[in-house]
Order: sequence, then C-alpha cells, then structure tokens
Amino acid sequence: MKIGVFDSGLGGEIVANRLANLFPGLEFMTANDRSHLPYGDKTADEIVGLTDQAIQGLLSSCQVIIIACNTATAAAIGTLRTRYPKVEFIGFEPAIKPAANGARVGSIMVLATPATLESNKYLRLKKRYARNITAIEPDCSTWASRIESGMFQRGDLLPVVKLAREHRVQAVVLGCTHYLAIEAEIAKLLPEATIQTQIVGVANRLNRVMLKYSYASSETSRNSAS
Ligand code: DGL
Repeated sequence: MKIGVFDSGLGGEIVANRLANLFPGLEFMTANDRSHLPYGDKTADEIVGLTDQAIQGLLSSCQVIIIACNTATAAAIGTLRTRYPKVEFIGFEPAIKPAANGARVGSIMVLATPATLESNKYLRLKKRYARNITAIEPDCSTWASRIESGMFQRGDLLPVVKLAREHRVQAVVLGCTHYLAIEAEIAKLLPEATIQTQIVGVANRLNRVMLKYSYASSETSRNSAS
C-alpha cells in the first residue's frame, strides 16, 4: 500500500523523507502544487479547491494520504474526508499542545502562514491548549515562497529570533512544513527554546492507521480462507 503525501511545495518531500526513515517498509508517493504556491495567502475556499485538484493523482493509488501542509489541513481536511470517505487522511496541525505543555505559563512562538493563523482550526487549538500562555505569531507570510525558491537567508530569521528572545519564548512551533527546511538554523539561533514539529505526532498516527489496516487485511484473508 502506498502512502500519499501532499504539500503545496517542498514541505511534502521533507515530510516524506523523514517518514520514510521512520517507516522503511512503506512506500511514499508525493504530490505538490508548485504552480499555485503559496497557499498561505489564499482564502479557505480557494485552498479547498486547489488541494482537492492536487491530490487527484494520489487518490487512485493511496488509501492513506498525509496532508503535509498545515495550511491545507486547516482549510480542507474536513471537506476531503467527506468527499473521499474511503481514504484515511492524516493532517498536519501546529504542535501547540506539546509546546504549551512544556511552557506551562510564559510564551511560545508559532511560525505559520497567515491562512493557518486565521483558521478556525488553529484558533480552537490555541483556545484549548494555550489558554494560559502567550503565543507570539510573527509575520512569516513571505517565508514559504522564499524557502521554495532558495531565496530564504539566515538574515530573514534575525528579527524573529530577536522577538523570541525579548519574549523569552520557551518553544518554537514550526507550523508550516516548509520551515522544516530551516529547522536546524532556527535551533542553532535559539538554543534556549525547544523546536516543535508535528513529525512525531504524524508518525504515531500513521503507525496506528497501519496497524488498523494490517488488522483489517488479516481479517479479510481469514474470512476469504474460511
Ligand atoms: N507548507 C505549507 C504549510 O505547511 C504552506 C506553504 C504555502 O503557503 O503554500 O502550511
């Protein structure tokens, strides 16, 4: 069984590579939508339409599709689950919960696209897990495009690093899969903060889904043998 991985751009390939290291027995197939990147400046309706179109190539071969894009997850995953009920969709959401648990009181920083930060899904996450802490949300609206085109530079990070230090943030949430490309640089510049990605959470979810499928397929072969 192939696992589909979708992102507007290179975030999907990074996620697929990291998951392939954790699940060497699984085959990953990626899809992107570089011609419409960035998704982060689009309306929810536009993102739903584009994501649906972009995953068409995955639907015929993949029973499990990872929406490796926080922006598309926030806007489209509910609609996709309704439209394609036989497919198991796994989404990416900013890792607010582990970041807030670590910080308890104090500040965290959430780096994400404007569409993610404005989404109801994100606002609900924040209300649920980050009630007693401050979430600093700097403007990262140009980052995905700059990372995608190789234009992003260390200097782009410096104002955000300064802001993080001023607020003594204890955790930095990478709420866009493109930012996995600059994770090491952020960690180097902010050694005092933990970096939260969703990779482990998504890997755990994928593991549970695969267990469910292997149970289901052993049941099917038992039933067809009897
Ligand atoms: N990589 C996508 C995410 O995780 C966003 C990139 C974009 O704006 O297209 O949110």
